[in-house]
Parts: sequence; structure tokens; C-alpha cells
Amino acid sequence: MKIAVGCDHGGFVLKEDVINCLKARGIEVVDCGTNSTDSVDYPVFGEKVARLVAKGECDKGIVMCGTGIGISIAANKVKGIRCALCHDEYTAKMTAMHNNSNILAMGGRVVNPEMAVRILESWLDTPFEGGRHISRVNMFSEIENRED
Ligand code: RB5
Repeated sequence: MKIAVGCDHGGFVLKEDVINCLKARGIEVVDCGTNSTDSVDYPVFGEKVARLVAKGECDKGIVMCGTGIGISIAANKVKGIRCALCHDEYTAKMTAMHNNSNILAMGGRVVNPEMAVRILESWLDTPFEGGRHISRVNMFSEIENRED
């Protein structure tokens, strides 16, 4: 398993904990930055992670900004991406089960590092349920491909 991780300055506080958690689980990490608390533009990092996942170069992605909102919007602009912003273990579990999300977003100014790790583990440990959710997830691609 290979996971791309990216953040802006508002998500940087969480990134090391997220990377440590992934490495402890034997997961290969592609660190897309940013690498300090200096102000940067979150769409740049959301897109970097999303492109790696969309191209199949990484299996999943984790993105973080201050709220998690901006970077999740950016990631979701890339075709094939299902990025879910989660603030607790329940939403992380449900998006894995029902939406087959391929990127997890979190807010560095919303959740503390311990909660971020709990959210991450819940998301990673929950398989997609399939069944009735398959056709709904396929509808995301239909929306992407529809002209108007
Ligand atoms: C940066 O100040 C902040 O706007 C960003 O991290 C994020 O919260 C945007 O949605």
C-alpha cells in the first residue's frame, strides 16, 4: 500500500503524526509537502495528492489544511477522486464503507493529532461495503462525465 500525503500550513501540524502512523503500519508514504508553517496555497497540495491517486501511482491519499475544507474541494476537482472531510471516527468509517473514498481530508485547526490518528485508522481499517453502494459510487463518475 502506498499513500500520498499533502497539506498546507494549516494542516502541517498534523502531517508528521499522520506520516508516523502510516509508516508504523508498514505503509509507503509519498510526502507531497508542504514542509513548514509558512503560508502556501492549499489547492496546489490538494491537486498533487489527487493526481497521484487518480493516476494510480498511490492507492489512497490524505490531505490536510486548516479546516480541511479548501484542500478537500481542490482534491475533489480531479476526476476519479472521492475525497471525504472527516472530523470524527464515525464519519471516517462511514465514508470508507459507503462512499469508497480514496482521499481522506482533515482540518489541522479542527482536530488534534490524537483524533487525527484515530480518524485515519478508522478510515484505513474499514473496507468498502459494496452492494447497494456500488451504483451510487458509480454515479459520481457519471456526474464527472456528463456535459450538462
Ligand atoms: C489557510 O489560512 C486556510 O484558509 C486553509 O488552511 C484552509 O482552512 C482552507 O480551507
